[in-house]
Amino acid sequence: MKNPDPHYLCPLCNQPLQLDVSEKNHVCPNHHRFDCAKEGYLNLFPVQFKHSKEPGDSKQMITARRLFLEAGFYEPLAKALVMIINITHAPHNNTYRLLDLGCGEGYYSRYLERYCERSQQMSLHGNDIAKIAIAAAAKKQPSAHFVVASSSRLPFGDAYFDMVLRVFAPSDAQEINRLLKSSGHLLTVTPGPRHLWQLKEFIYKDVKEHTEEIIIPEGFEPVTRQRISYKITPNAEQRRALLQMTPFGWSAGVGVQATLSNLSELEIEVDFMLILSIKTSTGD
Ligand SMILES: C[S@@+](CC[C@H](N)C(=O)[O-])C[C@H]1O[C@@H](n2cnc3c(N)ncnc32)[C@H](O)[C@@H]1O
Ligand SMILES: [Zn+2]
Repeated sequence: MKNPDPHYLCPLCNQPLQLDVSEKNHVCPNHHRFDCAKEGYLNLFPVQFKHSKEPGDSKQMITARRLFLEAGFYEPLAKALVMIINITHAPHNNTYRLLDLGCGEGYYSRYLERYCERSQQMSLHGNDIAKIAIAAAAKKQPSAHFVVASSSRLPFGDAYFDMVLRVFAPSDAQEINRLLKSSGHLLTVTPGPRHLWQLKEFIYKDVKEHTEEIIIPEGFEPVTRQRISYKITPNAEQRRALLQMTPFGWSAGVGVQATLSNLSELEIEVDFMLILSIKTSTGD
């Protein structure tokens, strides 16, 4: 049973949305109406805000990401996120609201629900601009609250969340600041310098280590930094999925894809940078 936590704001007039008596629509005082999808998510990204017909990741990318992540290759990262969230979630916090920003098909939200120490007190939310990603996430995790919305304009009031989690997802620093409570946390994961090095070697002539300095948004102070790196050996199908779910995979031609599929084995480095920061001011 979904807890009645979400207090969404109407994306058109910013007034509170209420579930109507049929429990199938959310309606604002100005009679803007948004249907609950059969998978249980809400689409609060009106057509007039869209710059393309199907914004965000494609169905193919989302299917590939689910296949790859469900195989457990990024579980050490997910475990590290759980450990960090456990220390930020104080026992006296009755409801701990966490937003998985640009959540994709929802792997990390599912993992947090399963493994966080106080997940019973957590209200888990996820947003993504890709409707197909949100539908997939909502179907697999009915207890969480998923919404189709852009991370640059989210349908929640100020200071609504205790934690914003951002894993490889675009963000808007001001919007994150607005959404977080005072002393709320932002947990960001970005690719480290050697992330997917051996895969990139197939695509680019000259792979360079990029020194990924994570920028702390205005109004935040860093709390902890962590680098997690290890090697994975996905099989041919999983390598194909990994290529499909990464932006640089798009530049891989058919020849590269075939070579990669035909290898008997390929060890690939994964490298993640995690940074936990705390909101110290409104950043205006
Ligand atoms: C690299 S994926 C990461 C997904 C997920 N965090 C994960 O690690 O599995 C980036 C996600 O951001 C979404 N996205 C892109 N632009 C966005 C925006 N403006 N607002 C919300 N989501 C967006 C994409 O649809 C995609 O699902
Ligand atoms: Zn409205």
